[in-house]
Amino acid sequence: MRFGIDFFRRHARKFIFGALLLIPLFIFSVFAWAHWVEPNRLTTTYLKYPIPEWNGTDNRIRIAMAGDFHVRHGEADRLKRVINALREQSPDIIILVGDFAFASSDPHKNTLDLPLMSRIFRRLRNGGKTPVYACLGNHDYAYGDAKMRKMLEDADITLLEPGTARLHFGENCEVFLGGVSNRNQREVDPKTIPFPPEDFYGAALFVVHSPDLVVDLPREAGYALTLAGHTHGGQICLPGRIPFVPHASRIGDQYAHGMFEEGGKDLFVTRGVGESRLRMRLFCPPEIVVIDLVPTEALPESQWRNRAGNPRKIQLPQ
Ligand SMILES: [Fe+2]
Repeated sequence: MRFGIDFFRRHARKFIFGALLLIPLFIFSVFAWAHWVEPNRLTTTYLKYPIPEWNGTDNRIRIAMAGDFHVRHGEADRLKRVINALREQSPDIIILVGDFAFASSDPHKNTLDLPLMSRIFRRLRNGGKTPVYACLGNHDYAYGDAKMRKMLEDADITLLEPGTARLHFGENCEVFLGGVSNRNQREVDPKTIPFPPEDFYGAALFVVHSPDLVVDLPREAGYALTLAGHTHGGQICLPGRIPFVPHASRIGDQYAHGMFEEGGKDLFVTRGVGESRLRMRLFCPPEIVVIDLVPTEALPESQWRNRAGNPRKIQLPQ
């Protein structure tokens, strides 16, 4: 013991100098990981969502979802990787929840090759076989909403702003999509939110960029689930995916990522596939989301989650 103390005293300066060297090395390592590694670690989140109206059927509809692409100049390869990951899931429907562009505060830096972006996004359509729906986000408006609409139209992607789609996948298997584009929560008039028709019997999903809008969505509208993005899951997080940097959203920090219930309405918020502000992610890798809509009775009882007045069985993201 005595020898250890003497040894430390003799070499104290070296120990302190070494420790001081380790601090910047640690900071650089975290920065390097967050800037060069984690943004490229694209993950896939799978969940099953129960549709009680489909009980007694074999209906299974796969939705692939992605958002917050935030494509910057020269990022065609990153975009291609995301598009390939979505296609590999062989989805029945693809839903894109906005923020396709990264809008710089200096408009001279907004120089995306939009025709190239269009050609890459068009691959999602799988030769016209896969329906693809989208809404715009706040960065798309900041970049130029008319340009982004044209880019998506050229990619043969249908915008819901507001808009609806009723998709038939065989007898007793229908999916209804309603959606709006939102520059931010305050600029959407709740009266413009489209509702499923009263005769609709199936899976009704609401598509929007900012999760804030779920607050204004009347429960009686009949939507089973809202799909949103915008929060990036926090983007820079503490271990355990706890958002470290607040995101500009009325309810975004509370609902940064995952499945939530808000006022009796289900909401899924994706972490997105890109980054705004800093090109960094920490403890919050990018994701695409695969949601299998299944009859309620197809899920095991261990994964049931009962809601007051509206029992559903929900398999949470794995
Ligand atoms: Fe975003």
